[in-house]
Amino acid sequence: SERAISLDGKNLEIQSLSINGKTIEDYRYADDKLEFNTDLDNFEFQSIVKIDPYNNTSCEGLYKSGSFLCTQNEAEGFRRITFFYDRPDCMSVFETVIKADEKKFPYLLANGNCINGKNENGIKTVTWADPFKKPTYLFALVAGDLALVKDKFVTRSKKEVSLEFFVDHGNEDKCAHAVESLKNAMKWDEDVFDLEYDLDIYMVVAVDSFNMGAMENKGLNIFNSQYVLAKKETATDANFQGVEAVIGHEYFHNWTGNRVTCRDWFQLTLKEGLTVFRDQEFSSDMLSRPVKRIEDVKSLRGRQFPEDASGLSHPIKPKEYSEINNFYTATVYEKGAEVIRMIHTIIGKNHFKAGMDLYFKRHDGEAVTTEDFVAAMSDASGINLDHFKVWYDQNGTPEVKVQKEYNESDKTLKLKLSQCSKLNNKSFDCLYIPVQIAVFSKGEKVFDKLCVFDKVEMDIVVENVAADFVVSFNRDYTAPIKVDFPLSPSERLKQFSVDDDAFNKYESISLYNRHIIKEFIAGNDYDLKEYLEVFKSVLKDDSIESAFKAYLLESPSYLDILKEQDQMMIADTFDACKKLKSLIANSLEKELKSVYDKFNAEKEFELSSEAMGKRSLKNLCFDYLCQLKENESLAQMHFDDSTNMTDELVGLKCLYYGYENTEVLNTFYDKWNTETLVIQKWFSLQAANPNIQIDKLKDLEARDCFDIKVPNLARSLFSTFMRSNLIVAFSDEGIDYSCSKVLEIDGFNSQIAAGLAKSYSIVTKLPNSNREYLLKSLDALLKKNISSDLSEVLKNIIG
Ligand code: BES
Ligand code: ZN
Repeated sequence: SERAISLDGKNLEIQSLSINGKTIEDYRYADDKLEFNTDLDNFEFQSIVKIDPYNNTSCEGLYKSGSFLCTQNEAEGFRRITFFYDRPDCMSVFETVIKADEKKFPYLLANGNCINGKNENGIKTVTWADPFKKPTYLFALVAGDLALVKDKFVTRSKKEVSLEFFVDHGNEDKCAHAVESLKNAMKWDEDVFDLEYDLDIYMVVAVDSFNMGAMENKGLNIFNSQYVLAKKETATDANFQGVEAVIGHEYFHNWTGNRVTCRDWFQLTLKEGLTVFRDQEFSSDMLSRPVKRIEDVKSLRGRQFPEDASGLSHPIKPKEYSEINNFYTATVYEKGAEVIRMIHTIIGKNHFKAGMDLYFKRHDGEAVTTEDFVAAMSDASGINLDHFKVWYDQNGTPEVKVQKEYNESDKTLKLKLSQCSKLNNKSFDCLYIPVQIAVFSKGEKVFDKLCVFDKVEMDIVVENVAADFVVSFNRDYTAPIKVDFPLSPSERLKQFSVDDDAFNKYESISLYNRHIIKEFIAGNDYDLKEYLEVFKSVLKDDSIESAFKAYLLESPSYLDILKEQDQMMIADTFDACKKLKSLIANSLEKELKSVYDKFNAEKEFELSSEAMGKRSLKNLCFDYLCQLKENESLAQMHFDDSTNMTDELVGLKCLYYGYENTEVLNTFYDKWNTETLVIQKWFSLQAANPNIQIDKLKDLEARDCFDIKVPNLARSLFSTFMRSNLIVAFSDEGIDYSCSKVLEIDGFNSQIAAGLAKSYSIVTKLPNSNREYLLKSLDALLKKNISSDLSEVLKNIIG
């Protein structure tokens, strides 16, 4: 019987199509589909197509980055290379033959093991075989003149794996940290999950033009150079940590993503949420667990919460999409990781490990669903997770209200809980929320329990509690929720001194800070005496880990505060945050200076967690000191004497923002304009300046080292501007400028354009006049000839 075959293909020039060697005459190729009929059940299909990687500016499929060629196929890039079933549940064994001029392309790389190579008349032919079945999105190919940095790893079962890092010539000295991170990740996955690497070679290629952070192609990861290249002179501590996290993340995908993949793209969080959870745990073990938790929650609140409160809100398993590229979101990734973390919390570490074992035992080599994952966790633990699964389908950040009722006579404390979510006209399904709760009474912990809050309203009763109790709610941030637990400022400070949960210690002091900021915004004064005492004692307490201390002492960024407001009060919030910082600096200059001096005397550069923590505390003190007019020379000295990028960049930032010193911008530029990763920081710094003029941004675009077609550069200028310079970016002139850039970029890279446009999702929270102007501008943009990526984002935002 006749069957209709339909294959994916985009921008392909057909040279020939055949079945079992016989040319196909009757086919249709339109709307990115190739269709033909056959009455055979089994047959060999051959297609020969021509593509033009040199004029492919989308950074999808096969394209040019710098001087070499590379691929990016997740989610649907493979159809730009050749005809195929371009969907994740179609898994095949690939053999790749690459043929090229050997002078121009000394390295020809693809997935798996290299099984053949020959050289004839300057033409090199190389064959790669990947023994593992995989979907198209994991296919990779790289060809070019690269430098190779080699190392090796011996697995637990004594197999030697060759580790090969390919970078641009001249960058060989920036690979050591990535190599070290990879070895640590390989060892960690063996130790924690009993997972070993499965090929003889693991390659990583660093490319300058990349839409995302990095990609887990089987045996041939391709990385944005930002997440490979790092040495102390050019990379900040945050960059070093980024390299470790992303190297870990892509490595961990080899099992959670590659060996077991997604049935379809609605399941994206199956691999991404789980792998983010795994990379977070890896970083926690490499660095500091409490600090990593604070950072992850800050990122969730700063990125995912706003997304979930905007027109872009969606469940971690989206219900519909027109461009899957738009759904590699903070929700799928970060909230997805929180959902995995909750499973880990509910069933416990050992059951979780058993659940992972069962998941691989059942599904190795398959393309599966989130249901399959949860079933493995539930079967391995014997714990029913049916109600829990609502987290996969419910969007919006759940809000949990907590009221305390204390009964003097029988010494009982009742916590009355209720859950809801602010969703526009949509119903909210009751969630299964695990919250770790502790109660302290007379300085002692009298209660510490994981409470399952699975009804809309619920009471928790704790007995034998004295009147001076302190409640530690949602310890270690067990559930990704907003907690509305009204406490007075002095109760917050009391919690800070009594609580033994690091996260909640941080939380109590940052909520206290927010209270002060709110008073300042309202135009009120606030007596800082109580707060400054605590600040001072923390600053002097040598028993507190430096990195954690820096978080306890940070004052809130105006962006974080703005994101928490229903209606943004941009200028007032900016002023209030600045005021708090300078009041702290004025009152505690001596103490801050003495900590600064002490750490600044340590000149030896180390990359240990402790050393990075000390730098972050030192630079926090430095930043406070630069709130004071008289410290400009200190700032200049800090900048001039710096021997690493962490210190140098903070110096630059304080001189430029704090003292309006633009001379130093030129010094930095002259020193670094050939290092693109460093110059991206220089662009970002200026794009975020709340006093920048649009004309100045245009000047920056005109620099030789700027290239709008390179995603990192476009992001360093435009994304930074649109996401972190709300004052200028949402003025009429700022809106005109960013809309024109989004439109221009959409013309050659729709993914980047759509990504930039997501920053308009704050539109409903803007002051009236800005909101109206932005809505009008977005409407105008929608009417232009734009990509489906961009149009989906704009439509969701406008609502
Ligand atoms: N699979 C993704 C990369 C990807 C996503 C490529 C979408 C193309 C389209 C990769 O594993 C990933 O998640 N990378 C993250 C970094 C990670 C540490 C969260 C990224 O690129 O941002
Ligand atoms: Zn990933």
